[in-house]
Amino acid sequence: MDATEAESSYFNNYPPPKALNKHKALARAFIDLQVEKHRRVVLVTSGGTTVPLETQTVRFIDNFSAGTRGAASAEQFLENGYAVIFLHRQFSLLPYSRHYSHSTNCFLDFMDEDASSAIVVRSEYQTAMRDVLRKYRLAKQNNLLLVLPFTTVTEYMFELRALAHLMKPLGANALFYLAAAVSDFFIPRDRMAEHKIQSSEIPAHPNIRSNSNPLEDGDDVYTGYNEDQPSNKSKKLVIDLDPVPKFLHRLVDGWAPEGSMIVSFKLETDPNLLVYKARTSLQRYAHHLVIGNLLSTRKWEVVFVTPDPPHERWIRVPKTRRSKSISGEENLIGLAEGQHQDGQERGGQEGRQEGDGDEGDEQGRGLEIESLIIPELVQLHTQRIEHVEVDSS
Ligand code: PMT
Repeated sequence: MDATEAESSYFNNYPPPKALNKHKALARAFIDLQVEKHRRVVLVTSGGTTVPLETQTVRFIDNFSAGTRGAASAEQFLENGYAVIFLHRQFSLLPYSRHYSHSTNCFLDFMDEDASSAIVVRSEYQTAMRDVLRKYRLAKQNNLLLVLPFTTVTEYMFELRALAHLMKPLGANALFYLAAAVSDFFIPRDRMAEHKIQSSEIPAHPNIRSNSNPLEDGDDVYTGYNEDQPSNKSKKLVIDLDPVPKFLHRLVDGWAPEGSMIVSFKLETDPNLLVYKARTSLQRYAHHLVIGNLLSTRKWEVVFVTPDPPHERWIRVPKTRRSKSISGEENLIGLAEGQHQDGQERGGQEGRQEGDGDEGDEQGRGLEIESLIIPELVQLHTQRIEHVEVDSS
């Protein structure tokens, strides 16, 4: 099966998301406006994707992504004059509101009641919140931000394909920034259970009233509390997942506008694999940039892997400006750079670091790495646009 056949076979097998037509209409109007204003437009994908186990979904498989990378990057693109289509996993973090929506940053903690019982922002947060609010308003008032949600991996695919097609009139002014953590595995529709998967055997005629004891009929769930062993009527759940078709080559070679720039991400947990996997992805899909990151250091360092020299370029938050991260492991910074197949030790924790340490906000919060990534990327996009213009003249 060639790539186009694989595409038809996948998309013909699933109903499009209910909101797709509405999203397309919104995106068309948004893109038309940006074309008229000669603006660059970036499609930022963000957050995880769910993999439903049942058609009438009660259970699904999910992943860790909170959407911080995508939401923080969207803010930086807006700062750099881009219009942003923010295609995100529903309920993951959103640009601007993310500063007050996370469970560790609950918006109620920023508020107070004044003497007249009016709700006010607490004085110590006024400056930071005003800044965020102004930027958010500016983006909305100038029609620079379009926020579109998806939930499942299939919805993501439909949305990505439709948006890429709609972006055609933008040509080289279009940038794809694929930060979403898209599931690699799913259950194909023809193998998916319609109803909630049961945890125990169901009698042949469950709706016939009988005097039998429901527990003996197997309507039991093993809790491990009173029983040493699960009932022999409890079921194991073995999930058989297929690989999700990789449509990155279709994006590069069909869906995306001619001359546009495509940036994908590569996430690994093993420092030995990161650069290798990023390079492999770049070679396989022949796009323009892979941004590699390790799960444990992703807030402080990334690597740009490009087809042109220098091929590999590390971007790091200076040591004094690193934000705290519960899940992060600072001692692993630099390890993926030092782990090349050629055995040469490079970089390391004290290797070259981007930024002079003066960036960041005046509230003394850590410097977000996206504020280093996006300006670099904007330069690469500018070079690409110039290159495309020279080629077509
Ligand atoms: O959200 P955070 O908690 O801030 O975390 C950010 C992040 C770690 C999720 C992000 O920085 C990141 O690395 N995202 C990509 C994760 C990944 O490894 O993706 P992948 O190797 O499965 O896919 C490679 C690329 O193709 C990715 O850009 C992905 O968005 C894209 N892809 C993948 C599969 C698919 N079917 N369609 C895609 O578009």
